[in-house]
Amino acid sequence: MAKIGTDIALAKTFLENGELVAIPTETVYGLAGNGTDLKAVSRIFEVKNRPSFDPLILHFANEEDLKPYVKNLPQAVQMLGRKFWPGPLTMLLEKSDLVSDLITAGSPKVAVRIPAHPLAIALLNSLPFPLAAPSANPFGYISPTSPIHVADQLGNEIPYILDGGQCEVGLESTIVDVTSSIPRVLRKGGIAIEDMEGLFESMEIQSGSSSRPSAPGMLSSHYAPKTILRLKSQLDDWPSPDLKVGVLAFNRFWEEFPTENQIILSQKGEVKEAAQKLFSVMRTLDNMGFDLILTELVPEQGLGRAINDKLRRASA
Ligand code: TXA
Ligand code: MG
Repeated sequence: MAKIGTDIALAKTFLENGELVAIPTETVYGLAGNGTDLKAVSRIFEVKNRPSFDPLILHFANEEDLKPYVKNLPQAVQMLGRKFWPGPLTMLLEKSDLVSDLITAGSPKVAVRIPAHPLAIALLNSLPFPLAAPSANPFGYISPTSPIHVADQLGNEIPYILDGGQCEVGLESTIVDVTSSIPRVLRKGGIAIEDMEGLFESMEIQSGSSSRPSAPGMLSSHYAPKTILRLKSQLDDWPSPDLKVGVLAFNRFWEEFPTENQIILSQKGEVKEAAQKLFSVMRTLDNMGFDLILTELVPEQGLGRAINDKLRRASA
């Protein structure tokens, strides 16, 4: 069983020996390995049970460290990086020869991010290589936002979980492809699109999903609990009273169900608070033995757009 602790030197030793360590970031916990060690990278796919066509993000402590791994830094990187790094933003850039095809699933582009978590930054600063790190959950399940979430699912597969507490943002990073003149958002996440739009004349937002995504978190049923989850708006009728129903509510209890079967994301109706709690509340409801979880969309603004994207996928 993985040890949980705050020992950066120990985490460093494991990583230098090619082992995997779960690391905290401000978005979600990552399953990290030496991004330049093909064995460690292969092990990430194995532990997550992740198909090899789904590429990984490389994490760096700062822009200087990242330069050798990309061909160039377009102006968009400087604009977005200055404003949002360290932070919940991942950018797609042309990769250099230092980045293996295993990381990018054969693509000439690599996803890079500078996370905003003091433990992650301290660890990255202590290492001579970047960390490849997908979210530390089995493929297709909800991302972990606390060390216990990681331990529950991957505890038998890895030696150490670096404990950085609860993740502050609670949603994965927003992913933007900046390799062409018009930046393209591939995954909605911890940076609201409204906060980026002002920087550019135009931006594209990729919508839709596929079974073989060219991009990120684009599988239609992704981030899903094991219990069936449905949006209230998808129902023709209320479910039969024989069914045990849990409710993932936005800001108030639904009067149709007992309150003990409901969890509210944000009493104040704030999407930021809802984002921080979303995955953790989904997990709790998933473990309560319901036949069905019902939920509702949140206001389609700020991080609400990313929350709704997750809810739609999880209920697809
Ligand atoms: O917040 C986050 O981004 C977290 C933390 C740990 O940094 N990481 C994360 O990684 O969410 P992951 O692997 O669960 O999701 C990254 C997504 C994947 O869906 C993958 O398809 C996409 O990024 N991606 C990575 N590299 C890519 C590439 N070269 N081209 C297109 N999509 C890429
Ligand atoms: Mg993931």
